[in-house]
Parts: sequence; C-alpha cells; structure tokens
Amino acid sequence: MPVRIKTGPQIDRMRVPCRKLGQIFDALGEMIRPGVSTFEIDAEGERLIREAGGVPNFLHYEGYPASICVSVNEEVVHGIPRKDRILKEGDIVSLDAGMVIGGWHSDAARTYPVGNVSEADAALIAAAEESFFAGLAYARAGHTLYEISAAIGGWAKAHGYGVVRDLTGHGIGRALHEDPVIPNYAQKTKGVLLVPGMTLAIEPMLTAGGEEVAWLDDGWTVVTRDGAKASHYENTVLITEDDPEILTLPGNAAARGGEAAE
Ligand code: MF3
Ligand code: CO
Repeated sequence: MPVRIKTGPQIDRMRVPCRKLGQIFDALGEMIRPGVSTFEIDAEGERLIREAGGVPNFLHYEGYPASICVSVNEEVVHGIPRKDRILKEGDIVSLDAGMVIGGWHSDAARTYPVGNVSEADAALIAAAEESFFAGLAYARAGHTLYEISAAIGGWAKAHGYGVVRDLTGHGIGRALHEDPVIPNYAQKTKGVLLVPGMTLAIEPMLTAGGEEVAWLDDGWTVVTRDGAKASHYENTVLITEDDPEILTLPGNAAARGGEAAE
C-alpha cells in the first residue's frame, strides 16, 4: 500500500488525539512509583483517554486485552497489565498508549524510572529518547525513510546499546498501523522519499544487552532473550516543508490556533 499523505484539515484533526495523548503521558508519568500495579496504570490511562473524548486504540487490537502496554525491565513492549505486577524501587517501566478521536489515531511511548534507578538504567532510558531524536533529524522532506532508520541504529550502536529488530515503527493516521514500516536500523535500500503530510510513528526500542527478543506464553509480552533491560520511546511525527512536528507532545498545536473541529 502506498504511504497515505494527509491534507491540512486531516492533520488538524490528527493533532487532537496526538496532543491529548501527550497530556495523558504527563499524567501517567506522575503516578509511576513503587507499590503501583501495572493494572492501576492501565485503568487510569483508559479513564484519562475516555475522559479526553477518545477511545483506546490498543484495546482489543488483534485481541490485546488492555488500553496501555506496560512493560517492566527486560520486557520490551506489549506487557499486559496485571493486578499482581507491582512496580518496585529500581525498576524501569515502559508505557505505550494510543487513542483515536474522530477516526484519527495517535501512538506514543515513554520509559520511566520507578523511584531511584541505577545510573546505567537512567542512561538506558535516556538512550531510547536520544536515538529517537537522532532519527528525527532526518524526518524531513527530501530525505528518505531509511535515513531515519540508519540514524537511530547508528546512534544506538555508537553508544553501546542493542536495537530490537523484530519490531518497527509505522505510518499512522486513519489506522493505527499504516505503511511504511519503519525499522530502527540501517537498510540496504533508501526507502520512500519523505514528503510533507506523512505521519509516522517513530519508535526505537533499545536494550542494554543483545538484540534478540522472545515472546512470553501470554502471546504478547516481548522480552529480551538475555534478560537485559530495555527502553522504548515513541512519538507520532508529522513531516512538513520545514522542521518535523512531534504531534504527541502535550503542547502541540496550542500555538497554532488550538483544537481543530472534529
Ligand atoms: N504501540 C504499538 C505500536 O506501536 C501497538 C501496540 S498494539 C497492542 O505499534 F495491541 F499491543 F496494543
Ligand atoms: Co507504534
């Protein structure tokens, strides 16, 4: 399928679930502390999404049973929230969430420290974000998709982190997952030419060890094979004529005339 280019009015509609998702991440970040269960994080996330007028787009996606993916330590992504999974001091926890409003999707992820974490774990958390921004530098009209991929993977490698290869970023818009697939490491080809109006979910998943992952028996939770901790950072990004716009930040579009009509 070709990459769907969004028009100006469509982009304005997409800004709404994206900005609101950014705000929800800020609120969820506040509740991360020792003693909280991953179930409580999901419940609060779903409540905030619905309160914002959205629908959780992960819930029931291919059978996924929750609204927020909550992945702890060596869990990379798609952890299933549980009442008996209690966060403890020194854990790191990745939240991945999305919502749909008026038929338009958003998707983002962040990794948080639980209380005080080791220096190495704090660096791992920062690394996912930094590799995202290394990739974002190429998220510009006139560049090609795999320049983003190569920059993410190159940054990770240069800093001694593993890059998960079995999972990727993706286009997003009318659907949670649209073309193109966005790998987080260099490819042999250039990939599509980036043009204004493309909306991409760029989402590096880094590890403090190897790059191999496995799926737990629950059918969802992706873990590192070697048990090393992992971090995840994702935003929905708009390609423009100029600098890329990170749509899933809490302040997005506020300076551009506020909310568009649905
Ligand atoms: N956020 C994931 C992604 O980026 C989607 C999670 S699908 C779910 O593609 F089913 F696990 F929710
Ligand atoms: Co995604």
